[in-house]
Amino acid sequence: MPVTQQETSSTAPSKVFIKTYGCQMNVYDSDRMGEVLSERGYVTTQTAEDADLVILNTCHIREKAAEKVYSELGRLRRLKSRSEHDMKIAVAGCVAQAEGEEIVRRAPVVDLVFGPQTYHRLPDLLDRHGETGAAVIETELPVDEKFEALDTPAAKPVKRGVAAFLTVQEGCDKFCTFCVVPYTRGAEFSRPAGRILAEARKLVDAGVREITLLGQNVNAWHGEGLAGHAWSLGHLLNALSDIDGLERLRYTTSHPRDMDDELIAAHGSNPKLMPYLHLPVQSGSDRILKAMNRKHTAGEYIDLVGRIRGARPDIAMSSDFIVGFPGETDADFAATMDLVRQVTYAQAFSFKYSPRPGTPASTDADQVPEDVKAERLAQLQSLLTAQQAAFNEACTGRVLDVLLEKPGRQTGQLIGRSPYLQSVFIESGGNCIGDTVKVAIESVGPNSLTGHMVEA
Ligand code: SAH
Ligand code: SF4
Ligand code: F3S
Repeated sequence: MPVTQQETSSTAPSKVFIKTYGCQMNVYDSDRMGEVLSERGYVTTQTAEDADLVILNTCHIREKAAEKVYSELGRLRRLKSRSEHDMKIAVAGCVAQAEGEEIVRRAPVVDLVFGPQTYHRLPDLLDRHGETGAAVIETELPVDEKFEALDTPAAKPVKRGVAAFLTVQEGCDKFCTFCVVPYTRGAEFSRPAGRILAEARKLVDAGVREITLLGQNVNAWHGEGLAGHAWSLGHLLNALSDIDGLERLRYTTSHPRDMDDELIAAHGSNPKLMPYLHLPVQSGSDRILKAMNRKHTAGEYIDLVGRIRGARPDIAMSSDFIVGFPGETDADFAATMDLVRQVTYAQAFSFKYSPRPGTPASTDADQVPEDVKAERLAQLQSLLTAQQAAFNEACTGRVLDVLLEKPGRQTGQLIGRSPYLQSVFIESGGNCIGDTVKVAIESVGPNSLTGHMVEA
């Protein structure tokens, strides 16, 4: 017999385990699912083994990401059959949105399926499932309703550390020909400025010192400011930086087409806005950029980076790249390598093109063979890794402001972040998590820096 939350709440609290895949927006959504469920008396747990409810918050961006869900569901099915208590299994996020009922057909162990825009209805979905025991599937796309439902005065942020995410914009209207996001997350929507400022204040009151604003196209955010004026993201960042106790701001992911002058200027004038920018370009070939529907050329991207560096010369640039998009020739790929050499990145993510169901490029006749994709990816990654190493190496001997976030593995060790988003390890006598300290960088590893505190 299905056990509902009401029946168990008089005894031990129910436990939820949320496993998150994909991008930072899913990380944010998972935290908020935890909040919604905590209002229902659930506590979060770190393993599936003792959970009453397991939620897989999934990603559909590439085939590998989507298929991970089914192997995890197989593991959960075996766990559930061994387990003595009645464990419920939910699939949330972008695979849920894209595949809906298909998930229950492939994995009948699943009790709930809900998309990124309906998780605010979780308690109601659990009740509905409790009444009949049948799988409940909810995959509408009403974004505004979700945020209204989540923004109750009672909702308190749970388990946020020193650095937190805050979703300000959702969805995408750009329809790049390789990408599932416009289908899984729906149309572009900007949350109102007042709501964002209120949520940021709540986070800062809960101890957060660094906020990263999130959106699939975060710099397409626009809103009405407090005096009725139209605001862009640059204006919002400046308003957020007035919050006392908030020390750092970041935003991700930006689209090159939406980097307006006010946002670029903020990089020069707003000291809380950190000098790191993830600005995906995908390819350096104009022909491929056009086929991808990115709506800009390689030259325009390079000029844009020049203007951003004009405002903030030390900015660390990051990007995403896709190799082996349909029709990509050796010359197109060489253009990507040229762009990388011209821009020079501090960090980057690169992927083999993965054909996604329902996207225009997936049915193109001229798909690139797997071995060619693999060879191009290896070349690109070796260049990007060398650039990252050079960027990190150049930090040796410098004194950087480091926001201390958490203890390291060894006793006395703390881990923080530099302004450029590098992980920094220091030895510390006292616990100063949440403080920003000056650190002299002594040595550099492939993914982190090590130094000593020179001044609190
Ligand atoms: N909104 C962001 C990207 C979101 S998806 C933007 O416009 O840049 C994150 C990254 O995944 C993309 O930048 C792209 O590099 C990669 N990606 C998306 N779809 C892909 C696909 N079908 N195959 C391979 N990589 C893909
Ligand atoms: Fe996908 Fe393009 Fe939208 Fe980014 S801008 S989410 S890559 S469709
Ligand atoms: Fe993946 Fe959805 Fe994010 S497809 S990358 S989890 S928006």
